[in-house]
Amino acid sequence: MAGADKVLSQFTQTVKEEKKTSGKRLKVGIIGTGWIAEAHIQSYKNMPDVDVVAAADLIPGKAEAFMEEYGVSGVRFYPSHKEMLDNEELDAVSVCTYNRTHAECTIYALEKGVNVLLEKPMTVTLDEAVAIMKAEKKSGKVLSIGFQPRGDANMQYIKRIVESGALGKIYYIQTGGGRRRGIPNSTFIEDKTAGVGALGDIGCYSLDMVLNAIGYPKPLTVSGYLSNYFGTNPLYQRPDRFHTAEENAKRFNVDDFAAAFIRLEGDIILDFRIAWAMHLDTPGDTVILGTKGALRIPSTECWNGTIGGAMTLYSDVAGEQAEQVLPILEDHGPDLFDRKIRSFLDAVINHTPAPVPSSQILYNQAIIDGIAKSAKLGREVEIEIPEI
Ligand SMILES: NC(=O)c1ccc[n+]([C@@H]2O[C@H](COP(=O)([O-])OP(=O)(O)OC[C@H]3O[C@@H](n4cnc5c(N)ncnc54)[C@H](O)[C@@H]3O)[C@@H](O)[C@H]2O)c1
Repeated sequence: MAGADKVLSQFTQTVKEEKKTSGKRLKVGIIGTGWIAEAHIQSYKNMPDVDVVAAADLIPGKAEAFMEEYGVSGVRFYPSHKEMLDNEELDAVSVCTYNRTHAECTIYALEKGVNVLLEKPMTVTLDEAVAIMKAEKKSGKVLSIGFQPRGDANMQYIKRIVESGALGKIYYIQTGGGRRRGIPNSTFIEDKTAGVGALGDIGCYSLDMVLNAIGYPKPLTVSGYLSNYFGTNPLYQRPDRFHTAEENAKRFNVDDFAAAFIRLEGDIILDFRIAWAMHLDTPGDTVILGTKGALRIPSTECWNGTIGGAMTLYSDVAGEQAEQVLPILEDHGPDLFDRKIRSFLDAVINHTPAPVPSSQILYNQAIIDGIAKSAKLGREVEIEIPEI
């Protein structure tokens, strides 16, 4: 299977975006031409009003080979985001770099007056997320964060259920999930590039699934735990093109498991755990407990775009305990990456708010940052979010 197919095969929707025209052609650049940039370029190619005119990558020749593979011509190439943004007049960029360079690329683009679609997780630290938001505010440009599962009909159904009031006042959420075996390699396993492991890679999606549903209340305190017993053990590592399993185990210096107990504004508890590897199929379903009802979302690889199975709504009906299995919604819309890119472009064209605003994802990042800090200190920490 070709690289890009591998990326896109994770998502269930296959129908392409309807061809819309805005009347304006947008000049787009891609910063970082690695794995996820494959999904971006394929979606940009589906957009009739986009010209991808520039690409940058730190690895010499990588961006050139990438554009050749995707049959995109007329692209100018640069050795980093800086040269690209200094020399191009762009309407928008996709920041598809590893996490450690998200902040510098995004801030530089915003300072140059360029709209940004930034891949998840927003950053590694809360301070970086705050710095990005300050640059965003100053620039007045659109910044959207790349959580494509937001476009999925079943994910949206979770939010609609909460908003319908069927659960009443929500007071407890358990979420997370993970994989029995599923440690990525490449740039994901080293602190100098990824900065954060399973917690940032897939944990950010689990957090977004529930926090978006309940309206992103502010996180207040967190008691977090991180470990990496699997990633650092050659038994659970895989070789890649450049490294043996032993070498990857030595390189591994991020988390492969995270757990946390988080207090949110509104007297809500969030109980969270995520794993790239563990001796268990799942640490449990996602559950949302409310005063009128509860929702069970079967343990889900929500980062792949949708829920893992039919949800169940528990409530009392006429004084009797009842369970209702909710339908899994069929979603025949465009591919999730096409939706993510189209919704970003439409916000740029129409000067409307970002589809996935930084003001929400700031709280997602604050939790990730809080878990890392708490794990290091071995105690609960208060989450302090500066004014932006
Ligand atoms: N939305 C999704 O479904 C999804 C899936 C996978 C990865 N991601 C995210 O996408 C990001 C990239 O992941 P990946 O797997 O493509 O990583 P990758 O390592 O394959 O690619 C990143 C590329 O960015 C380049 N780069 C880094 N800093 C740069 C800079 N300043 N200027 C130019 N190029 C630079 C690197 O040389 C590398 O080629 C990560 O943040 C990851 O979390 C998102």
